[in-house]
Amino acid sequence: MARARSYKSLEKEIMSNKKYMLLNQESHHGLTRLEHSLRVSRNVYKVSKKLGLDYVSATRAALLHDFFFNEEFESNRGLIQGVVHPDIALANASGAFKLNDIEKNAIVSHMFPLSMELPKYKESWVLTIVDKLVAIYEYGLYKFNPVNLKGYLKYLGYSVCFLFILAINFITYGEK
Ligand SMILES: [Fe+2]
Ligand SMILES: [Fe+2]
Repeated sequence: MARARSYKSLEKEIMSNKKYMLLNQESHHGLTRLEHSLRVSRNVYKVSKKLGLDYVSATRAALLHDFFFNEEFESNRGLIQGVVHPDIALANASGAFKLNDIEKNAIVSHMFPLSMELPKYKESWVLTIVDKLVAIYEYGLYKFNPVNLKGYLKYLGYSVCFLFILAINFITYGEK
């Protein structure tokens, strides 16, 4: 049986990487991408441990799931960024750490169903659900501004586009 690991030891291991620590300078949901990643990973650690899952892989994936930088999206902001950033995070994470299959799938599928990459493991499902709940929490706490109607209309537009893409996928499912 694998050795038990504390959350702090997993966090320390990932935070020893210099490039990863640059996430501390990236804005994300009104705070930094590092703060967001740490909040997601703390919760993923608790949930996956409680469920008897591979909490080490789940937590490492959670720490690394948004390992991307705004400068990597010069012209691909908004919805496209939401779709492609898991691939960039996986490339950056793989360049810095040796990842197992659970970690790779959890990172690349964390934007499901937006990115259409299916979570194949229970650990991946924990990450994608916790990430969404944390994003809603952070958005409400740090970014919600009732005056910013134009901004919310933009996200409403994204949601409509997303539902349209999903509908097309369901309608054409199985067609050759
Ligand atoms: Fe993400
Ligand atoms: Fe995230």
